[in-house]
Amino acid sequence: MSLDGLDRFDRYPLLFGPSPVHRLDRLTQHLGGADLWAKREDCSSGLAYGGNKTRKLEYIVPDALASGADTLVSIGGYQSNHTRQVAAVAAKLGLKARLVQERWVDWPDAVNDKVGNILLSRIMGADVRLDPRGFDIGIRSSYEEAIEDVRASGGTPYGIPAGASEHPLGGLGFANWAREVEQQEAELGVFFDTIVVCTVTGSTHAGMIAGFAGLDRPRRVIGIDASATLEKTRAQVERIARRTADLIGIGRDLRDDEITVLEGWAGDLYGIPVQSTVDAIRLSGELEGMIIDPVYEGKSMAGLVDLVRSGEIPSSSTVLYAHLGGQPALNAYSGVFS
Ligand SMILES: Cc1ncc(COP(=O)(O)O)c(C=O)c1O
Repeated sequence: MSLDGLDRFDRYPLLFGPSPVHRLDRLTQHLGGADLWAKREDCSSGLAYGGNKTRKLEYIVPDALASGADTLVSIGGYQSNHTRQVAAVAAKLGLKARLVQERWVDWPDAVNDKVGNILLSRIMGADVRLDPRGFDIGIRSSYEEAIEDVRASGGTPYGIPAGASEHPLGGLGFANWAREVEQQEAELGVFFDTIVVCTVTGSTHAGMIAGFAGLDRPRRVIGIDASATLEKTRAQVERIARRTADLIGIGRDLRDDEITVLEGWAGDLYGIPVQSTVDAIRLSGELEGMIIDPVYEGKSMAGLVDLVRSGEIPSSSTVLYAHLGGQPALNAYSGVFS
């Protein structure tokens, strides 16, 4: 089997190349179980610190350019990594960016809407508009209004929904990630039987599921929910995985057991770190010098730690932790570590 179906879609390169893969020696030793590695979307691009959305946007940019748009319109929370990456891509392409930044997280830090991701978007010239509405991963009326608003002002908008997930091409970037992993495995002489990935709007995890479904060797792709709205995220992952598998011509239905979203590390609310998040951030920093964030990766790392400790991921496993970026948000959470 192969993922040749992916090659029917144009890809606009935004990454330096394949994202780096390396062993997590000290974390592996500390947990005393499975062999742990990381693949680093956080340092794979020169565009404003990169992250998982940059890879998704590689497959969306050709469609945006073909549409004749002059403005990318997108949406996220105040500390959205996604909107920051849309702002960077718009700057790179010479387009405008109109960003709806909603109050997805009720976080008391006084500079929450001023530092980190939102600061970077402002520096890159995006038109950043704050909106008091709360968290939801679906298509939002505020987003639709922003698209209309650009049009009414004489612009030509191109809409990219939250996390690029509801975009029809949103899953392709991480289907390509699966193919990249297979190539890196051949170079490194290793096989990752288990992938651990944070999931919220769903197309990162869904793209991986579709991609690996098209390759020969089966493996477990474990999504760790960080949305705290588990059923919505699970439904979105399922839908996008099936849509992406269809698009790239996998030629069979995905089985339910290929779609795993685990709960237990998100806490009660999206964007609020809990004790296990903070512990995972410190552990990763102290043992590996690998920085992870309090909204997403801190939660998936907490999941990884527990699954290895409990033996749910057996010690015979070789695990690839997908580091999806997100560190700029740490600036908005300084109170957690002071
Ligand atoms: C750093 C980081 N990790 C994980 C995710 C989750 O990815 P997705 O929304 O595709 O599920 C996001 C975005 O939502 C993110 O910015």
